Amino acid sequence: MISTPYDSIAERFNADRTRLYPKEREYLALLLDPLTGPGTILDLGCGTGNPIAMHIAFRGHRLVGVDGSEAMLAIARKQLPGHRWIHELMERVEFDETFAAVVCWDSLFHLPRQQYQPVISKIHRWLAPGGRLMVSSGFLVDENEGGFTDTMFGHEFFYDSLPPKRMVAMMEETGFDILVAEVCDQPDGGRNKGKWATVAAKKA
Ligand SMILES: C[S@@+](CC[C@H](N)C(=O)[O-])C[C@H]1O[C@@H](n2cnc3c(N)ncnc32)[C@H](O)[C@@H]1O
Repeated sequence: MISTPYDSIAERFNADRTRLYPKEREYLALLLDPLTGPGTILDLGCGTGNPIAMHIAFRGHRLVGVDGSEAMLAIARKQLPGHRWIHELMERVEFDETFAAVVCWDSLFHLPRQQYQPVISKIHRWLAPGGRLMVSSGFLVDENEGGFTDTMFGHEFFYDSLPPKRMVAMMEETGFDILVAEVCDQPDGGRNKGKWATVAAKKA
């Protein structure tokens, strides 16, 4: 039994997260444009499927969505029937199939930083040669501190990240060519500590 505060906010999150940001559109194009036909795309921490999985499905691809929140997945199943939605934690899920591309967007940052490398290694194993990954993590990350908690819709959530330089180095060491490594959401000096985007291709 997986317990997560996302179960309590699923409807509100879905109502709030309706549109792709321009940067997300850009990264999704980098992810999907090289694909020559319909492929199976893995979305780790897919949430309600809105708007990222929706965009991918609209482009004609099949989705495999993994999420730790059954309430988020229930919305995904309703909005995008005919795709595979798996209730599991990304650090526990296993596949013996390959994927044309992988999305891990706004979800990895809920894991302790020690789990980043194992998850990125699994993604690397599951990707087809040349297959691409788009992943977000935190920007203003204390090198030495652990994670922190913050509230969303009145509920407390845990966040942590590898500092950007270590994120990029770890992905290169794992066998990725880095296509984009940049701040995609600037910190506002307050609650928003900024977001780091990495788009990478599995070395062929
Ligand atoms: C901020 S939402 C992002 C949803 C979607 N990727 C998006 O961009 O809108 C984070 C999602 O990650 C899921 N999540 C958090 N930790 C997870 C874990 N360890 N394994 C699987 N899913 C997780 C949550 O349940 C939630 O649906």
